[in-house]
Amino acid sequence: MKILVVGGGGREHAIIMKLAESPAHPEIFCAPGNGGIAKYAECFDVKATDIDGMVNLAQKIQPDWVFVAPDDPLVMGMVDVLQEKGFKTFGPKANAAIIEGSKIFSKNLMKKYGIPTGNYAVFDNSAEAIAYIQKQNCYPAVIKADGLALGKGVILAQNETEAIDAVHSMIDDRKFGESSAHIVIEEFLTGAEVSVLAFTDGKTVVPMISSMDHKRALDNDEGLNTGGMGTVAPNPYYTEEIAEECMKKIFLPTIQAMQKEGRTFTGCLYFGLMLTPNGAKVIEYNCRFGDPETQVVLPLLETDLLDIMQAIWEGKLAELPITWKKQSAACVILASGGYPVKYENGKEISGLNEQGQTEQALIYHAGTKYTDGKFYTAGGRVLGVTATGETLEKALQQAYSSAEKIQFDKMHYRHDIGKRALQANQG
Ligand code: AMP
Ligand code: GLY
Repeated sequence: MKILVVGGGGREHAIIMKLAESPAHPEIFCAPGNGGIAKYAECFDVKATDIDGMVNLAQKIQPDWVFVAPDDPLVMGMVDVLQEKGFKTFGPKANAAIIEGSKIFSKNLMKKYGIPTGNYAVFDNSAEAIAYIQKQNCYPAVIKADGLALGKGVILAQNETEAIDAVHSMIDDRKFGESSAHIVIEEFLTGAEVSVLAFTDGKTVVPMISSMDHKRALDNDEGLNTGGMGTVAPNPYYTEEIAEECMKKIFLPTIQAMQKEGRTFTGCLYFGLMLTPNGAKVIEYNCRFGDPETQVVLPLLETDLLDIMQAIWEGKLAELPITWKKQSAACVILASGGYPVKYENGKEISGLNEQGQTEQALIYHAGTKYTDGKFYTAGGRVLGVTATGETLEKALQQAYSSAEKIQFDKMHYRHDIGKRALQANQG
């Protein structure tokens, strides 16, 4: 059994370490991978967005599976091309990945099928967009680029000046290229945020354990938005009652809507939810596993991930029982100084063993390089230190005590991952 995993961050490392646990003992390959992944999978220097290069690599390796993890190759149609060449794949085709690839598509889908989400309007003309914002006169104004923008396409403008700047930079200056030629202006929602990843074969949807991301760079949710500075699972705000409501009003209706549109979604669908005073609403869909949500969700999965992939491939997900450890997990991201703006690479990392791991935690490498027996930083987010435990408190203690033993020049991390979740648990 051979598996090729496309991608090279902490999420992919978590997927690979879970696949490595499979009783099928798969031989794992990864492109492009990173220094830590290379300890578990043979890595190839092919970019995740290089569709031709990936097809060539797959033809060379002849894997039984290709697992496409990141958003851009999915939205670009890598799965479609791989399937045409006869490969078995995990991940949605392009016509379904559009649920993340176009915010206008996803908002229109939700509107058409009555799936709860914030009110919105769509613009491709900055004067009209600004007139709309001025008429609404309601801040923060939520301004989103239609297409993919490396997780930076959402601006919460605190006042008119910021909103006007955001609109001009997106539509007129094409800050995110064609991704921001069209924008969505959306109602600002309040409440607790929850990430729910779900397996789906297009008919059945099986939510995984819920999680909570921490998107801001600094403690107390200050600083800039990042790709995510840490996660905990499960998310205490996401009660069983809310889970039932979400299944009925959001998860199933979304899967069914996609099927009705002739865009059957298979793989992992990510629901970014806001638990508002008026019920759960969708903030965003992602067509893939979240990063760093995967780093706390997959360690809690008991069922063989390969069995789940196979059940999805055969359209038989309803027949497979999927079970979870009754534990909690916490992941603390160790980032380069200056991230998410400007940072330096090539800092030597100390505190890791030969495998790039530590005794007490799972170390998921996000941006590392391995040269001459040493690990070096090679990205903004460098390592995700994950621990599991009987309680969230224990998982957090373990993750933080492991994080303290790791070091590199200008390393920084948040010291309050899980703090809100602990307060919710007590409250
Ligand atoms: P996204 O890149 O879509 O994940 O959005 C980044 C973050 O912006 C989300 O995690 C939310 O915290 C925030 N956000 C996005 N849309 C809204 C909204 N309509 N109301 C309030 N916050 C939002
Ligand atoms: N953690 C958010 C995302 O993966 O988009």
